[in-house]
Amino acid sequence: MKYKAIIENMTLDEKASLMSGKDFWQTQDIKRLGINSLFLADGPHGIRKQAVAADHLGLNAGIPATCFPTAATVANSWNQELGEKVGDYLGDEAVSQQVSVLLGPGINIKRNPLCGRNFEYFSEDPYLTGKMAAAYIRGVQSHGISACVKHFAVNNQEERRMSIDAVVDERTLREIYLTAFEIAVKEGNTKALMTSYNRLNGEYTNENMHIMKRILREEWGYDGVVITDWGGGNDRVKGLLAGNELEMPTTDGEADQEIIEAIRRDEIKESVLDEAVDRVLDLVFSTQQASQRPTTPFDVERHHRLSQKVAEESIVLLKNEEAVLPLQFSQKVAVIGDFAKDARYQGAGSSIVNPTILDHTLYCFEESGITSIGFEQGFDRYGKKDPQKIKNACDLAKQADVILLYIGLDEVTEAEGLDRANMQIPENQIELLHALYEVNPNIVAILSCGSAIEMPWIDKVKGLVHGYLGGQAGARAILRVLSGDVNPSGKLAETYPIEYEDTPSYRYFPGNEASVEYRESLYIGYRYYDSANVPVLFPFGYGLSYTTFEYSNIQVTRAGVTFEITNTGEKAGMEVAQLYVTGPSNHIFRPSKELKGFTKVFINEGETKTVTIPFDDKAFRYFNIKTNQWECEEGTYQIKIGASSSDIRLEDSLFVEGTNAPTPYQPKLLPSYYNGAIKDVPLHEFEQLLGRNVPNQNWDRTKPLGYNDIIAQCQYAKGTFARLAYHAIVFSYWFLRKIGKRSTANLIMMSIYYLPFRGIAKMTGGIVNMPMVDGILMIVNGHFFKGLRHVWKERKKMLKKKKERLAKLS
Ligand code: BGC
Repeated sequence: MKYKAIIENMTLDEKASLMSGKDFWQTQDIKRLGINSLFLADGPHGIRKQAVAADHLGLNAGIPATCFPTAATVANSWNQELGEKVGDYLGDEAVSQQVSVLLGPGINIKRNPLCGRNFEYFSEDPYLTGKMAAAYIRGVQSHGISACVKHFAVNNQEERRMSIDAVVDERTLREIYLTAFEIAVKEGNTKALMTSYNRLNGEYTNENMHIMKRILREEWGYDGVVITDWGGGNDRVKGLLAGNELEMPTTDGEADQEIIEAIRRDEIKESVLDEAVDRVLDLVFSTQQASQRPTTPFDVERHHRLSQKVAEESIVLLKNEEAVLPLQFSQKVAVIGDFAKDARYQGAGSSIVNPTILDHTLYCFEESGITSIGFEQGFDRYGKKDPQKIKNACDLAKQADVILLYIGLDEVTEAEGLDRANMQIPENQIELLHALYEVNPNIVAILSCGSAIEMPWIDKVKGLVHGYLGGQAGARAILRVLSGDVNPSGKLAETYPIEYEDTPSYRYFPGNEASVEYRESLYIGYRYYDSANVPVLFPFGYGLSYTTFEYSNIQVTRAGVTFEITNTGEKAGMEVAQLYVTGPSNHIFRPSKELKGFTKVFINEGETKTVTIPFDDKAFRYFNIKTNQWECEEGTYQIKIGASSSDIRLEDSLFVEGTNAPTPYQPKLLPSYYNGAIKDVPLHEFEQLLGRNVPNQNWDRTKPLGYNDIIAQCQYAKGTFARLAYHAIVFSYWFLRKIGKRSTANLIMMSIYYLPFRGIAKMTGGIVNMPMVDGILMIVNGHFFKGLRHVWKERKKMLKKKKERLAKLS
């Protein structure tokens, strides 16, 4: 232990007090030993340091900070150096606000396009995600503070995120859902990691010995701090044993007491606590020099400019018929769409940043050199169809050479805590587009949304620029692409299916009442579309440029692949070249190809550059469930270099020696997986892959409700009061939506409806404690007066204990 001397000097109470928050954002300090608090703040694309009112839902504004493009956006840049720069600037701002741990990056894999938090995550591909995440972490931590990679792991949906059991086979877990974390830990050297709310194969991730101990600590050698997601703690002692050092936010000493009692009862050794304390102290002492410096303002303008540059490199040009873009200087342009007035630049929830500056398209027009003949709103962002607005927009459109149509998803639709209901943009925007097309078909649509959408209307636009969620300078960045000042170089980090029904997890998302089965296994995103030959709207890795690139001269050695790229157009530009590998045989099922490397190069017009992408330890490995380790299959691999996952420009092969591991599967028993036809995997076949039966899919309606049941289950409760409360919640949700208060309605769903009973205490440390939750559960289960008395009695006890504890610690 690094801090043995200090730890030996600490009382048991003091040690346990470091195991959970002092308040919503800070850890306990111990003045007499010179141990300061850590200040933790969201993350991930800007600092959300709440100086006054604290919450994890993004309700109360943080101190102004630069709102950088969200991870879904930056991933499109495929530029690790740029990712590191973002991390660097984030780190700078964190230090200037005395933040010691920045809660990001979020690196969950985009299993399904409807996940409400996809805008916060990088990609459907673990390799790209991991590399970008490691870059961010390096940048943040170069300032002497800590990043906190999240949410470990398999948190791929918002619906029932605090109770759902994700049922995943071991190989898929390793290859798809853990690889990015592995890269973040090993290459990013993250000092902190946040566990997710959900269960994984039956255990809360925070207590899951398999991922927390065996994989994270033993295999990856992680020696940093593990933090629960806010209110995500369950059994504190189990969590500690699995290696969770810090439960957040405060539990008002309650969870610490559980640890103390478990030690006194000899259920756990004090040395387990000592080791956890040692790691927390390491985080405190190694970050305090940076985070305890007197506050210094950061350079707001410089940070804003970087934010713009990042947005510029992340914009994806999806369509450019008849070279409608870049716009010509002499063209008269009509600007239409609510998003041109109020930019859509980030998502909702705990990641909300209070921006220092905010660019809107209409303000930046003059400097863009584009000649605007006027603006019309065209639609209400949150409203229904408005014929007058459409008419006004069409009148303006008639006078223009080109229409710039700003459309997308609104802030309420892409939010933490709730998944999207479908992949469409609002109907009133589509109606506007159709009407405009009738009067002037020269339409360039500019999309603002942080996740994939369906585009049945795509034939009605000549140009399509996807700005994603470009942060506070995103609007200006888009104008620079439209005007040609910036040559677009972003490529999609996720596939755009033609329709939602095409997605591989369509039938398995968001799962059953109690569990979600990952029956599609390895086949997510392009891994599925490619293997099953399903046509898509835009493939993974796709993006256009104002110039063209040719690939030539591939040479493959055991060390890597070298080739040339020539800029054959008339404009300098950047190209993202992607390395895909196809396995050597069909003994072990695999997606038809997988991303194993990438690079981004700037090339002047007419110039040729030689590029090398090395093979790393991920290039040829697969996880063998028989040997329970990474293996390499011997044989000849296809090495493919693509401008996207479906635009392979060069191909060669390479013989790779294997590790001679036994074949882990019997192909006859897993036909869907061997064919890549995983849209409707029968239960018995999934169980074969899993190696066990699936757990209960639905809630148990026969038992009284307990800590880990959710409030939505009150509909089946014995207590009349609980059933009434349930109907009141459902009614309020319905009513609020009816009167157009969608965001308040969403809050009800995320913070009440899906909350487990234990969450009432875990989210409100100091107001309600677990014994009071016992009383609430008595009420719910039909013992109204007994429960009420219990709540009252326990509250009095809690207040008394609190006084005693504070006296002891001070
Ligand atoms: C989110 C985390 C966030 C935390 C603190 C949680 O609800 O899942 O990503 O860091 O709140 O705001």
